Amino acid sequence: MTDSTRDDPTHHDQTHDATIDWHRFWTDAEGDHRESARPGETHGMADLLDRLFERTKYPDSFAAVGCGPADCPLELAERHPDLDVFAYDATESARREARERAADHDLPNVTIEEATLPAFDPDRSFDAVYCYAVLHYVEEAARAVRNLYDAVAPGGLLVFNYPNRFTRAEWDRESTGDGVLADRPDFRERFQLLLEGRNLLSYDRIEAELGARPRSFWSAADAEEYWSREETPPEVRTGLTDAAINPCVCVPK
Ligand SMILES: C[S@@+](CC[C@H](N)C(=O)[O-])C[C@H]1O[C@@H](n2cnc3c(N)ncnc32)[C@H](O)[C@@H]1O
Repeated sequence: MTDSTRDDPTHHDQTHDATIDWHRFWTDAEGDHRESARPGETHGMADLLDRLFERTKYPDSFAAVGCGPADCPLELAERHPDLDVFAYDATESARREARERAADHDLPNVTIEEATLPAFDPDRSFDAVYCYAVLHYVEEAARAVRNLYDAVAPGGLLVFNYPNRFTRAEWDRESTGDGVLADRPDFRERFQLLLEGRNLLSYDRIEAELGARPRSFWSAADAEEYWSREETPPEVRTGLTDAAINPCVCVPK
């Protein structure tokens, strides 16, 4: 992908047909709509990762895959100048924004590169690989998880969230009928793969793929909130816990 493509209105980054055009999104979206695609920031993931790493072993290298504007990796890079931070995204406009922000914050320990899951084949491994709010848009989510795990160095850690059958049931309910997201057709377009049940994972499936049992990242990091659909007022939520709807796991290697 060259810089000449980035202002071309006909340009379309190849993520998946069954989601939104992410290049358009990061070029045009504003306000709350834009914020809705930065959960790494709104869910305080940098704080939670820091808390987990301090309890286990602080990594020397950290890779965020599907980084968007790279809120979480840039935050970690700023807090830890000795940490080598790599941020990958499929979409040129996201990478451009991430690069500009890394330059603005004078962060020489950050490298931004292209990667489009399920493929992930960097020319090195990392002590920690992190992939948040991305597998929802990847049809071959299990293959993506295998490739992410392959990029973890021995003794390292993979952290990712993913859609499961509870995510699908809850988000389908909320985006149809009189659900709180029913007036947002872009929501169903964005999450088409998971709403059609085409990329759902579970602890058992992850264990079968990786040969290691995942554990809840929310528990491991002592998270007070588990984040699912924060737009949903408490009185219309189902009995499903946020942790069930937004499973996030860590898998040591
Ligand atoms: C909802 S945003 C999440 C951004 C960031 N991880 C966060 O938590 O704030 C999803 C990001 O995934 C990227 N993406 C979508 N499909 C992808 C794929 N197949 N491979 C890599 N990145 C992808 C999009 O360009 C977008 O930047």
